Amino acid sequence: MYIYAHRGFSGEYPENTMIAFQRAYELGVDGIELDVQMTKDGELVVIHDECIERTTDGIGYVKDFSFRQLRQLDAGSWFHPRFAGERIPALAEVLDWLSDQKRSIILNIELKNGIIHYDGMEEKLLTLLYSYRSWSHRIVCSSFSIRSLYRLYQLDPNVDKAMLVEGSQCGTLDMARVCHAREIHGDWNFLISREGEKISKKMDICVYTMNDPLLLTELIQRDVKALMTDFPNRMLRG
Ligand code: G3P
Ligand code: CA
Repeated sequence: MYIYAHRGFSGEYPENTMIAFQRAYELGVDGIELDVQMTKDGELVVIHDECIERTTDGIGYVKDFSFRQLRQLDAGSWFHPRFAGERIPALAEVLDWLSDQKRSIILNIELKNGIIHYDGMEEKLLTLLYSYRSWSHRIVCSSFSIRSLYRLYQLDPNVDKAMLVEGSQCGTLDMARVCHAREIHGDWNFLISREGEKISKKMDICVYTMNDPLLLTELIQRDVKALMTDFPNRMLRG
């Protein structure tokens, strides 16, 4: 079972920042998960929320700022003052950094294209990913938005996609087929639901967000492909 760092090593470092990704990599994770939103001037940036106030010293929506403006913000101090100066990364920065690393790991890019609709986000993403073709087979794009996943499929049927689900939802398998998702990323409640058990026999399942090593045995028994955790240190030890 693979261990993915959820928003980087977000249990001990500010989520979705370069230091959180670097520390996760150094621990030896198999993959990194991150979230992508889009700025006013069309830059794909790594931040979980549509609004910036929870994880930066700014106020407002990502969509209303240029990339240059967002880069002025402090994305580390909210977590701890010693991380002052961490910035919201551009997705391109993370891709460049991963290209330079010796060890090959998976990158799971979650498109946050739903609560706010970012027109053209999927096109932007693919254009960017085409610059990293040598290792693009290690990139999986996930989303809660079926529309976004289907748009990716229309643009490029070969892009690896994962459908995100929360809890038990009827028709998950049908929806996954509609958007040509290769795997399902579900939470614990999905995994233990009847629907989850049924689907796990047909598709790869990754589970978020698992922080308790006591559950590792159960996850392995359920043949989970990967887990996402805020504390990869605990899960790699477990
Ligand atoms: O990709 C799994 C997980 O990250 C989805 O939830 O809210 O942490 O982005 P969230
Ligand atoms: Ca996510």
